[in-house]
Amino acid sequence: MAILKIARMGHPVLGRKALPVEDPTAPEIRRLVADMMDTVADANGAGLAAPQVHVPLRLVIFRAPELGMTVLINPVVEALDGDTQIGYEGCLSLPGLTGAVPRFQRVRYFGVGLDGEAIQRTAEGFHARVVQHECDHLDGVLYPRRMPDLASFGFVEEVRRAMDNGGR
Ligand code: NI
Repeated sequence: MAILKIARMGHPVLGRKALPVEDPTAPEIRRLVADMMDTVADANGAGLAAPQVHVPLRLVIFRAPELGMTVLINPVVEALDGDTQIGYEGCLSLPGLTGAVPRFQRVRYFGVGLDGEAIQRTAEGFHARVVQHECDHLDGVLYPRRMPDLASFGFVEEVRRAMDNGGR
């Protein structure tokens, strides 16, 4: 078991396009995923992309309530229609911060699992959001770049307090 160091916004690895995983069943990929599972559990996150642990490969893990943890290698995400929904997101690479981000409400995604099996699913709501967020990391995009209005960007504690006070 190993908890990996998470890159924070500003580190160049988070701004690069990640490379495809050549052999999803390779032992080093299995080890990386096991360490990413430990890391995301330790940090209490909903998902993690390999570039966030300084590995520039197209691999993400994420948890959706109805699914448990999914490992998705070389993913492709497509919107099912043009509907979007605004929701607050956080990211382990921007600790303590949150912001409102529009995402497609319904997506289809494809990829490969750890055993080399093909994965194809449709997703909506939080599931769709977390997939879009994690896969953005593979193209060097952090969620503030998806925010049309930075007025909602801030520290979680402050944003929550402002909401509780009806200030937003
Ligand atoms: Ni993130």
